[in-house]
Amino acid sequence: MQITSNTVFIPGATSGIGLALALALQERGNTVIVGGRRAELLERIRAEHPGIDTVAIDTADPESIRVAARHVLDTHPDLNVLVTMAGIMRAEDWHTPDGFLASAEATVTTNLLGPIRLIGAFIEHLRTRPDATIMTVSSGLAFTPLKATPTYNATKAAIHRLSDSIRLQLADTAVQVVELVPPAVRTALMPGQENSEVAMPLDDYIAEVMQLIETQPDARELQVERVKFLRYSEVRGEYDQVVSVLNATDPHADAAA
Ligand SMILES: NC(=O)c1ccc[n+]([C@@H]2O[C@H](COP(=O)([O-])OP(=O)(O)OC[C@H]3O[C@@H](n4cnc5c(N)ncnc54)[C@H](OP(=O)(O)O)[C@@H]3O)[C@@H](O)[C@H]2O)c1
Repeated sequence: MQITSNTVFIPGATSGIGLALALALQERGNTVIVGGRRAELLERIRAEHPGIDTVAIDTADPESIRVAARHVLDTHPDLNVLVTMAGIMRAEDWHTPDGFLASAEATVTTNLLGPIRLIGAFIEHLRTRPDATIMTVSSGLAFTPLKATPTYNATKAAIHRLSDSIRLQLADTAVQVVELVPPAVRTALMPGQENSEVAMPLDDYIAEVMQLIETQPDARELQVERVKFLRYSEVRGEYDQVVSVLNATDPHADAAA
């Protein structure tokens, strides 16, 4: 993906990594459309950042995806980048069904079905563009699990493998598949995470990601240095030790999304 001159839709950008990435991309000369459910945040983003367009979308709802995709493509026919950012992360207790079932279903719907349905809604259009990108969003926890969040870890591992797989299929097109692999970053994804000392400051994270996009336009994965501890634990032969270190801290206090 080139760093500039794209038209980028980021469903899941009303806060956190998505919003910070949207603003950084706008600053670098991209047209950006921010999506999400929280209408008051969409309105504020439009008011505070002239030039950014917004669209209401619930990526857990296939009809909402269809309506939003139609609107985005009607108003931005030059769209060439889709970032499947929307995600949720919940602590679960798998000892009893009450402790995890509802959370697991919601997490699979948002974190896995959501990106799949979004790609379904945009792939035919993206294939018409001379230079297009699907950016998926996984996590260091796709590679080394946090005990507190089994379904989250599983959906992010699935996103990793999905990204690898569709990259193979789309190799005969001009659509690049890039996986953003964040480490723990200070956002409101989990309670307490915005102030977590073990999480990376959001500004630092986005600055490093923008540098990676600029210097590695053909990268398959956008990996900041901080995520490599989790991303390559198994490759280094340190999986058990890294799982222990990651889970030694209180997962609610030190959510390592
Ligand atoms: N922060 C981390 O440590 C970390 C690490 C690895 C991966 N990630 C991933 O990065 C992505 C962004 O998370 P974040 O950390 O920036 O957390 P965040 O601030 O909570 O952002 C989550 C975003 O997803 C949107 N979203 C959630 N459910 C949605 C739905 N059903 N429909 C539409 N939008 C939805 C939210 O918007 P609305 O509520 O307005 O809909 C919000 O804009 C997620 O996929 C997360 O798994 C984060």
